[in-house]
Amino acid sequence: MSDKYAEIVNSGLTGKLAKALGLPRPARLRRYSPGDDAAAGPVLILDGGNEGSVKDADALAEVLLSWGVDVRRHSEGQKFAAIIPVFTGAKQPADLSGAAVATGEALRSLMPSGRVISISRSGGLTPHEVAARQGVTGFTRSLAKEMRAGSTANGIVLDGEARSLPVSAVSVAGALRFLLSGRSAYVSGQFISIGSKAGKLPDNWELPLAGQVAVVTGAARGIGAAITRVLARDGATVVAVDMPAAGDALARIANEVRGTALQLDVTAAEAGTIILDHALARHGSLDIVVHNAGITRDKLLANMDPARWDSVLGVNIGAPLTISDELIASGKLGDGARIIGLASTSGIAGNRGQTNYAASKAGVMGMVAALGSKLPSGMTANAVAPGFIETEMTARMPTVTRQVARRLNSLQQGGKPVDVAETIAFLASPQAGGISGTTLRVCGQNLVGA
Ligand code: NAI
Repeated sequence: MSDKYAEIVNSGLTGKLAKALGLPRPARLRRYSPGDDAAAGPVLILDGGNEGSVKDADALAEVLLSWGVDVRRHSEGQKFAAIIPVFTGAKQPADLSGAAVATGEALRSLMPSGRVISISRSGGLTPHEVAARQGVTGFTRSLAKEMRAGSTANGIVLDGEARSLPVSAVSVAGALRFLLSGRSAYVSGQFISIGSKAGKLPDNWELPLAGQVAVVTGAARGIGAAITRVLARDGATVVAVDMPAAGDALARIANEVRGTALQLDVTAAEAGTIILDHALARHGSLDIVVHNAGITRDKLLANMDPARWDSVLGVNIGAPLTISDELIASGKLGDGARIIGLASTSGIAGNRGQTNYAASKAGVMGMVAALGSKLPSGMTANAVAPGFIETEMTARMPTVTRQVARRLNSLQQGGKPVDVAETIAFLASPQAGGISGTTLRVCGQNLVGA
């Protein structure tokens, strides 16, 4: 579904009028295409002069240089695709000022769809250190709300549990590459926490999922179809699952990506075993499981009947739990398996009329948090929480509600199914091995649940 308002305020005479009236003018976001450089232009790394930060900034610069990026440590009047303030050495809040203020000074040199990526640590040994580290989250979130022209601000946080983690670690590099790229177009005001689990850099950044077999539920349309396409583009062989009633659309998407279609209601008995048998028989392994199938049956709780409640809980969280249980218990998932759930900002903030849906989506976040620490080393579980995404589901919203929902985020527009799919493909990748148990929002920094 197209955003007519965004088209009108960005073109010709109507665009000029909108500018004169000070109306919101959502920018066209830079999205990923295969063959894109690691960064869209020079990258400025700022260390603020703190001892630990300088060392980490050097390590980051090395990573970026190895990708052929033009790295600068000072601004000399050129335009930048990204600014990376490094706060890892901050021991007290006063230590934040160097990199924070220098970031502000460089902001006017940021290209459209630019990036600010803060690098920090969580936890800390003293209240001063904890205050400094936590301060970075407030800084980054507020900056994300000040960004213009499709630019975003996000953070990479080295988990307190993994304090000795080098800033050049695989998953830091993976997260950095994701955030720099157009893959993260609709991710803003978010933090990617890197824990101690190991990851692996892909042999080929264009095909990070080469040789992997993925299953995507609810693949016939919307976000599921986009996930199927992006995983296949990144090299995976995809088993596309959906209800028998969606059989034709399912066959089309499976054929398009040269995968296979599996008609299955995810709430059916032994759905996990049926999926596993299909993947092993047709493709030889199962490495990536994306629990995308989801439904809404909205009603105020006072009017909620058991059928609405039970069907939403059954599809959205019951099925992911039992399918994951069956797959893990089989012992037949690939060594570096990835389990990825679809949560929702409604599950974080709550939403009127969606007690059942929000319960199921908060449940998905709980499921991945619990699985994330329990899975054998090498495997990870994470969730993605989309905000307002332009799909058939959101096209059914009343016009005014839809227009308002679109603007209620820092990028002033709805996301596209591909934005959710790109984040899922990143979490599915070998370079995201150090990220587990987390939920990453793809919401343009939606005010809901911020
Ligand atoms: P959609 O309604 O367009 O597609 C969902 C697909 O799941 C359909 O093809 C449907 O046939 C399939 N499905 C439903 N029940 C099934 C079952 N029992 N077994 C197998 N397949 C089943 O939905 P959309 O918008 O693409 O959403 C995908 C996921 O993203 C859902 O989990 C949804 O809750 C979540 N999400 C969507 C947001 C949005 O703005 N569109 C926002 C937040 C979360």
